[in-house]
Amino acid sequence: PDKVMHKLVSLAKRRGFIYPSSEIYEGLSSCFDYGPLGSELKKNIKELWWNTMTRRHQNIVGIDASILMNPRVWEASGHVASFNDPMIDDRTTKRRYRADHLIENHIEKLRRDGKDEELQKVQSAYENVASAEDSNRALYELIIAEKIKAPDTGSGDWTEVRQFNLMFQCNMGAVADKSSIVYLRPETAQGIFVNFHNVRESSRMRVPFGIAQIGKAFRNEIVKGNFIFRMVEFEQMEMQYFVKPGTQKGAFEAWREERFAWYSTALGLRAEKLHWYKHDKLAHYADLAYDIKYEFPFGIEEIEGIHSRTDFDLKQHQEYSGKNMEYIDQLTNERFIPYVVETSAGCDRLFLALLADAYREDVVDGEERVMLKLAPKVAPVKAAVLPLMKKGGMGEKAAQLRDELSESFLVQYDDAGSIGKRYRRQDEIGTPFCITVDHQSLEEGTVTVRFRDSAAQERIDLSRVREFICEKLV
Ligand code: GAP
Repeated sequence: PDKVMHKLVSLAKRRGFIYPSSEIYEGLSSCFDYGPLGSELKKNIKELWWNTMTRRHQNIVGIDASILMNPRVWEASGHVASFNDPMIDDRTTKRRYRADHLIENHIEKLRRDGKDEELQKVQSAYENVASAEDSNRALYELIIAEKIKAPDTGSGDWTEVRQFNLMFQCNMGAVADKSSIVYLRPETAQGIFVNFHNVRESSRMRVPFGIAQIGKAFRNEIVKGNFIFRMVEFEQMEMQYFVKPGTQKGAFEAWREERFAWYSTALGLRAEKLHWYKHDKLAHYADLAYDIKYEFPFGIEEIEGIHSRTDFDLKQHQEYSGKNMEYIDQLTNERFIPYVVETSAGCDRLFLALLADAYREDVVDGEERVMLKLAPKVAPVKAAVLPLMKKGGMGEKAAQLRDELSESFLVQYDDAGSIGKRYRRQDEIGTPFCITVDHQSLEEGTVTVRFRDSAAQERIDLSRVREFICEKLV
């Protein structure tokens, strides 16, 4: 698995998908930059999600809220008090670990080793942690009782367990005191909740309806690693669906089904790599939660959460803002605070899932190649135009075709090196179609289309190229 990740990271950098952030200064932990091809691919993911959620649902509209919000929002939402991870420090190395992960890994090991009796004992102790009066203390005592050691150093000289808030703080304005604290949003959802009435009124929305948003979120994650899987600055694609109390279960099930199917049908991920996970431990706002997980080279991990958030957020905002958050049903005159079903996907995680899913090594025409088998609508470059030779008018003809196709989608022109080499270069970035302009193109007005996956070729009319490719991008 490490080898696969190594290859992905190296290809991503070499071909301009993802670079480490501020690399010339040794980078910044868990921060990354998307290069020319990466930003195209990311834009495609966001566009597909946006179109699916807003245009294909008559009762869902989009917004783009600001990252900085009145800090009272985060008191109301519960993030100031509860958006914490329990951390424990190894006194010898000063390394910090998630206390709950240490125990969960320990439980996993007992399960693997078949130590059933001990497993049951630890599991039930761990279940009691959440309800303990001092859960930090209970976590700490369990780690000590089980003699759990630090994973990389084997040391067991632990500090107490402490809660670390995941929100980034900054100061707004000229005075740096407590009154000027603002937070970088840790989820985009709150920008939607606070705009519930604005959107409802301005767009004349009636329950059930949804509000969708794509935007940056920030979390001071202590546990890092796995490339862009866990970042401190990342992009979420969230949708809050407001329903009448009592109907949330049905809405939850419908969204669960729709979102799961989207990954294989719209994005083209292999269905067998997708998994469900039902949460036993819930976030402070949820009463039911499922994750859609993808089988990454480093393990099966979350890409999207489907959460039943009840009326928690709107109720909290009503209490903290003093504004009425009720909805009045025009037909029945009923008043209620809507319940919310949320679908929350991480754009960067989908990006990584797509790269991992698409990566292939095979042999065509007796030569080894690397290929990204991306769905044409997701691929950053849709077609490459390649003159067989630069001379004899082929270069000009190809450039002319490139300009024409560029009006519809992203095209690359390449006349450097052998044709085989140029195909390889395109295979490696996932370009689904290579159009070769040769002698016949000048004489008869035809070109060859070479398909990435099969390496097969077909000759078609020059005038049909644009339509031919467009048909395959839907
Ligand atoms: N509004 C609900 C919410 O934020 P979440 O499960 O904490 O729920 C939703 O996050 C999604 O955001 C995750 O499924 C994941 O795809 C993405 N995400 C969360 N933390 C992330 C991080 N540190 N780096 C990259 N993506 C992250």
